[in-house]
Order: sequence, then structure tokens, then C-alpha cells
Amino acid sequence: MTATDSSLPTLQLTREGRLKHFLTLDGLDQALLTDILDTADSFIEVGERSIKKVPLLRGRTVVNLFFESSTRTRSTFELAAKRLSADVLNLDINTSATSKGETLSDTLLNLEAMASDMFVVRHSQSGAPHFIAETVTPGVAIINAGDGRHAHPTQAMLDMLTIRQHKGQFAGLKVAIVGDILHSRVARSQIRALNTLGVEEVRVIAPATLLPKDVESLGCKVEYDMRHGLRDLDVIIMLRLQRERMEGALLPSEREFYRLYGLNEEKLALADSRCIVMHPGPINRGVEIESAVADGPQSVILNQVTNGIAVRMAVMSMAMSGQVSERVQPGEGAGQ
Ligand code: CP
Repeated sequence: MTATDSSLPTLQLTREGRLKHFLTLDGLDQALLTDILDTADSFIEVGERSIKKVPLLRGRTVVNLFFESSTRTRSTFELAAKRLSADVLNLDINTSATSKGETLSDTLLNLEAMASDMFVVRHSQSGAPHFIAETVTPGVAIINAGDGRHAHPTQAMLDMLTIRQHKGQFAGLKVAIVGDILHSRVARSQIRALNTLGVEEVRVIAPATLLPKDVESLGCKVEYDMRHGLRDLDVIIMLRLQRERMEGALLPSEREFYRLYGLNEEKLALADSRCIVMHPGPINRGVEIESAVADGPQSVILNQVTNGIAVRMAVMSMAMSGQVSERVQPGEGAGQ
């Protein structure tokens, strides 16, 4: 169900290197990620207008296909599409024909027959958005809203936008990602984005049972001791324990996890005094973060949510524009 790594650039980029799908940050260079951040920056102002709309996707149909639960991603994709003036269809998977045994492929064929222009896909299977991008009608853009443990590229980009807003640049920054790295698609995409954008150091802080075997090969340093790992940090990204993806007992207890890896005010004081605290949400207060920190002056967690709309507007408008540019290649078939 997954595309090979070597097929990714051609799958999600046009021949000119423009986005046509947004599936993963693998294979995307610093210039393209910076372009996404700059485009998102330009959309922030739209959210501050009394009429929060631009016409970039007017007449286009965007379908939100969420096979897993979501609050932030689904809502901000919907708002982003509406702010771009698209028509938005939110398929309710629980009441759809999926419950009668309809396959993903058949569901997509039927939605394509309704002249959809873009699918925003969240799925428990790693690689589901890639599979859809490989099989979908040319001209239809696929945006990954989180697939299994694999990737959550728009989350990583809204996190990068938040870091850039608060820190100005990526060079010289020390960033730690703390907690359940093993099950986190967010962490994988964040590590990729942080390295591509040129931070000085990416640290992961977690017990060995919550780290992937190959984590250092992703481009990060490993710390098992949180108090040691928090020193000198500019950015701390806390993660939720993804109980729904855990097989077997990976933790002694939530209480023990919180004692060792939970972020409280006392531990936060070990980082740089201007360190910002981030979390992709949903947060579990008292499991990975205490309320005094989540709601405190160094927390930018709700800024992340706001930035999600602008980043998703950027990615959707860029992918649609890339799809259109493919279609108008002189003398060639659509989307070849
Ligand atoms: N961060 C994130 O993906 O949150 P949701 O599951 O609420 O979309």
C-alpha cells in the first residue's frame, strides 16, 4: 500500500518541482518548505479580516475523508478550504457505506464521480494517502491528514510556522521532542521538517520502549533522562501517549511515565528561559504535561492550532495550482 521512497518526488511533485499532492515531507527541499511557510504567512491576515475569504479555490470541491477521529486537523482543514472559497464535503465515515463493507477504492471512485477536486485523507493505515494518490484520477489532489504511524506533514508544517514566528529563524535552534516517539507520525514529520529547515539540533527524549529502533538514523540525538535532555533548549514539543497504537505493555504506569517524562514547571525551568512549549494536541493533562505549563506563558499550543488554518490554506492552494499546471502542459495529456 506504500509508494517506494524513490517514487515519492514524482508522485507528489510536478516536473517543475511544484506540489501536486502533499503526502510526506520526505523528498521536499528547504526551498519548498520555506515556500509553504511564506505562503501560510500570507494567509494569516485572511483569518483576521471581518470577511475571512479569498477566491483561490472557488468552484472547487474538497472532500474531507477522515477514517480516524480528529478535532483540530479536520476542523482546520474545513475552515481552510472554506476560507479559500471551496465547496467542502465532510464524509461521515461512521454513517457512510464503509460500514456496509464498501472498500476505500470504491468509496473514492464514487466521490470522484461527484467531480471532487481534492481529498483530505486521515487513515489508520500507513501509506493510505500514497495509495490513493497513485490510483486517483489525474487532476485530483490528495492531502495527507495523518496516516498510521507514518506521517502528518501539515501538522509538522504548522509547527514549523509557529517556531519561525516565535524564534525568527531555524538556524542555531535546539529542539526536543518528548514522549511517545514510537507511535507518533507527528514526530517523524517534525524531525524531517526540522532537519530540512536547518535547526542546530533535534533531540528526542523518551524511554527506550517508546523510541523506534532507527531513530538516530532519522537525524536526531537520543536522551533517556529528561532532566539532562531539557538543558539549553529553545523549543520543547510534548507528545501524547498513543494508547490506541500500543501493543503490549510499553510503560510501567502513566504515573511513572509522568514522573519521568511529564513536563512540569520545575522541569521546564531547566530549559532556556525563552523556551517555547508546544504540543500537537490532544493534550492529556497530568499524563505528559501539567496544566500550569500547558496554559502558562511559555505555551504556544493554541498558536499552533490557529496556524493550522493558514498552513492548510497554503498546502491546498499550492497543490491545486500544481495540478492545474500539470493539466495545461502544451501537447501532453492531463496529469501525465
Ligand atoms: N494534532 C492532531 O492531529 O489533532 P487531531 O487528532 O485533533 O486532528
